[in-house]
Amino acid sequence: MPDSAPHTTRRADYHPPVFLIDTVELDFRLDPAATLVRARLAFRRNTPGPMRLDGVGLTLLEASLDGTALPQERLVHGEDGSLTVEGVPDSGTLETLVRIAPQENTELSGLYTSGGNFYTQCEAEGFRRITYFPDRPDVMSRYTVTITAQRELCPVMLSNGNPGGTGHGKDGTHWVRWVDPHPKPSYLFALVAGELVTVHEPFVTKSGKQVSLNIWVRRGDEDRCGHAMDSLIRSMRWDEEVFGLEYDLDVFNIAAVSDFNMGAMENKGLNVFNTKYVLAKPETATDGDYQGIETVIAHEYFHNWTGNRVTCRDWFQLSLKEGLTVFRDQEFSADQGSRAVKRIRDVRGLRAAQFPEDAGPMAHPVRPESYIEIDNFYTPTVYQKGAEVVRLIHTRIGAAAFRRGMDLYIARCDNQAVTIEDFVSAMQEASGVDLSRFMGWYDQAGTPELTAEDRYEPESRRWVLTLRQQIPPTPGQAQKHPVPIPVAMGLLDGAGTELPTRLAGENEARPGTRLLLLEGAEQSFTFEDVPAPPTPSLLRGFSAPVKLKGVAPERLRFLAVHDTDPFVRWESGLQYATGLMLRMVEQQQRSEPLGFDAALEEAVRTTLRAAETDPAFAAEALALPGEGFVADQMEIADPAAVHAVREHLRAEIGRRCADALRATYDGLAESGEYRVDGRSIGRRALRNACLAYLVAAGDTGLASAQYGSAGNMTDRLAALSLLADAEGPAREAPLADFHARWHGDDLVLDKWFSIQAMSKRADTPAAVRALYRHPDFDLRNPNRARSLIGAFASGNPLHFHAEDGEGYRFLADAVIALDPINGSIAARLIGPLGQWRRQAPARAALMQRELRRVLDTPKLSRGTFEKASKALA
Ligand code: PHE
Ligand code: ZN
Repeated sequence: MPDSAPHTTRRADYHPPVFLIDTVELDFRLDPAATLVRARLAFRRNTPGPMRLDGVGLTLLEASLDGTALPQERLVHGEDGSLTVEGVPDSGTLETLVRIAPQENTELSGLYTSGGNFYTQCEAEGFRRITYFPDRPDVMSRYTVTITAQRELCPVMLSNGNPGGTGHGKDGTHWVRWVDPHPKPSYLFALVAGELVTVHEPFVTKSGKQVSLNIWVRRGDEDRCGHAMDSLIRSMRWDEEVFGLEYDLDVFNIAAVSDFNMGAMENKGLNVFNTKYVLAKPETATDGDYQGIETVIAHEYFHNWTGNRVTCRDWFQLSLKEGLTVFRDQEFSADQGSRAVKRIRDVRGLRAAQFPEDAGPMAHPVRPESYIEIDNFYTPTVYQKGAEVVRLIHTRIGAAAFRRGMDLYIARCDNQAVTIEDFVSAMQEASGVDLSRFMGWYDQAGTPELTAEDRYEPESRRWVLTLRQQIPPTPGQAQKHPVPIPVAMGLLDGAGTELPTRLAGENEARPGTRLLLLEGAEQSFTFEDVPAPPTPSLLRGFSAPVKLKGVAPERLRFLAVHDTDPFVRWESGLQYATGLMLRMVEQQQRSEPLGFDAALEEAVRTTLRAAETDPAFAAEALALPGEGFVADQMEIADPAAVHAVREHLRAEIGRRCADALRATYDGLAESGEYRVDGRSIGRRALRNACLAYLVAAGDTGLASAQYGSAGNMTDRLAALSLLADAEGPAREAPLADFHARWHGDDLVLDKWFSIQAMSKRADTPAAVRALYRHPDFDLRNPNRARSLIGAFASGNPLHFHAEDGEGYRFLADAVIALDPINGSIAARLIGPLGQWRRQAPARAALMQRELRRVLDTPKLSRGTFEKASKALA
């Protein structure tokens, strides 16, 4: 346990800042062991109270007020590292000089070194590790930053805003100044310095402003920046076209760093990226990596308006910027290729990460009520569910009104730190639609469950649909209110043709999809002139983040083939297969022989026949529900039984459909130059989906051949991940080859760790222990830690839940070792142990025991304490 009981911050306790800071002048003298930071803050009183400045781990060397040194008695140091300055006037200039040690900073928050270069990470509360400051997002200031360092140590020195001059000092030093004309909160401050090279492109905004785009990387990585740059340019154009938003500085810099806690960071004019989301070439990066780069580049760029120009009043409003910006990046990606496939992938991701969170011990509303460590709330709920809630509003009011709402939101809130109400009320005013009840989506946790019942009345030719919703209780929220649920839907006749629909009270029938709005706990909708009992297609495009339950298997089979909405086609197939697998899991538990449902073979064959029109969609449709998804549908999970069932079905499909799978596989053989457009990616995805089934049926040789001949990482890795499950030389040789070839490339080596961590082989728990001690394993590098520990605990349910508890023990050992190095990453990795309530008693007890062992560790970080204690509560 932490030495003193950690403090809980509550949304209800918000108070405006006591002092505002209008301008900040920062002078850095960079040195890995002892960096000096001088800060001049022009302050102005805002509310009554003392001047308390946040600070963590700073050594204060000097402090003065309006040019006069402050005596020690007026400088009160708090236990948390903060500094209270006594007797300050209502306005003035405070100057401090502090010393920090970037090379000792293993938490990667504040100023730190990586590979000899300097980088910062300030969101959410890292700026206080750099200088004394009111480190909260509602204090927005104009920054001027001067950086001085030895020229050979730091030939390149970057910060936010526009260049503002350079010069030489004595002793081989030089300095660079950066001026950011836009007021910003401290969490958007950034500094990057060291030996970096740039890939450059010019850009002209739609109003004719010249912008210099630069991606800064380590020497040797210049040939891997093309996709990131291309994605950036497309993002900039898209935001101009779709939202009328232009870039607002003369330069846009991106710096890539290999030690980084998250994906990337939207610092004003100087985005800092995990190398994983910048660097790609076909030999080293998979299609998934390429898509990740496009998404993250777009996401960070879009933050320039949704996050930076308009920012959050406090961290409870985090989804104001994150939900909205994820929605924007999703829309961008949808416009780049297949909208349907993008939606399917996003929903898959939501269900894999957010639904379990919403049903677990850390369940929280999109706008949380309280936190111990804000780092723990950069969650799928705040990001992905937050984006779904923005999408709900978009769906409810329509694209045109949404655009007017965005214009109003930005015009009204520019250069301000605002709340989620400010966003929703702009949407409400622009659309004229009352959105007050949508606030329930922001303030209640838990995934609503939607059920539908229908009846047909032949005499009146009426069809009545009754929708019901129910939101399960979550920690601290026992009772829930109904939320507005937009249900996009349509009706199909017996031949699968879409029927026009007319609701009672309407004059004319409408063709195609229509929107029903379920506002209460239960509501009925009467459709007129329905010639025969129809099949309803509900929740088209996944129009709300809910669990639609109880659709009959015959209807699912029908919709999977006939629906006009591609999402519902995919979803119906998935739900059909899930139902089947759940029934088979029960057979497996009773040790009954597992059969096979001929409908699956038919579905695979139908999908393969139609694959040519949209190979990416076919690849999605071919995939069986994941083990995690199936287990999530069970009251008490049974990872081993789920695994056995899924493997059985994969092998059966592979065997029964071998001819068609092989024909598709051969027909899609790699040809010509590697390209990353949607169609090429879809073809590779489909081909590798076929390969996986063929290997499941026993054709390991095909994977070995593909491993040997692959001309790109997508195909090579797809083969290797299948071979990693094999026995003997089929596995060992390619794994050794892969290591020999790529051990010098961190991002590729991460894949080597992950693949082994996710292997189905019985010896995986032991292998993971051995990999943890491998010379290439480094707990201090977040990507590497995630590639082994995260991949095992989150991506290998079979072995993580090993009956003897070895998986749990390993995770707890790793978390305990990592916590003093990087508490933020340790807290993230511990997540899977929190899901013990969904396991059978013996496993649950083992998981709780490991959580307690973590909790008993002295000097635990606040973040890990919060996760472990809430998991046990
Ligand atoms: N704000 C970043 C994003 O969403 C994520 C992030 C949070 C990065 C905290 C670093 C630290 O793009
Ligand atoms: Zn973001």
